[in-house]
Amino acid sequence: MIFVLALLSVATVASANPFPKGNAQAGQKLFEKYDCNSCHNSMMGGDGNKIFTRIDRRRNSPEELIDQISMCSGNVKAHFTPQETQDLAAYLNIFYKFK
Ligand code: HEC
Repeated sequence: MIFVLALLSVATVASANPFPKGNAQAGQKLFEKYDCNSCHNSMMGGDGNKIFTRIDRRRNSPEELIDQISMCSGNVKAHFTPQETQDLAAYLNIFYKFK
């Protein structure tokens, strides 16, 4: 079963990726460098990542995710380049799973 799931997710990644120019690993490094979950952690009772998968999450399309990254970049006083924004989006899409 796990094997089948793995195959399915590979197929999904290959067929559709809303952030083809983003590098999820680079995005994760930025996310950690800027301590992006610092606020989300306290909002979500310790696990800030839950903000990305909560039932009533605000961002429900790739475009909205990009918008929110731009908004939250102000919170960490960062000016992300378009490439860095794509990287962050590719990383966050591990949670959002937009296709
Ligand atoms: C100063 C506090 C703060 C920091 C730091 C912060 N955020 Fe946020 N973030 C928020 C708040 C508040 C919300 C919820 C907004 C809402 O509910 O409408 C949020 C929501 C989000 C969401 C949307 C969650 C959803 O509901 O879909 C994303 C994506 C996000 N932040 C990304 C980031 C990234 C990337 C960084 C680092 C560059 C970051 N945030 C840093 C305060 C912060």
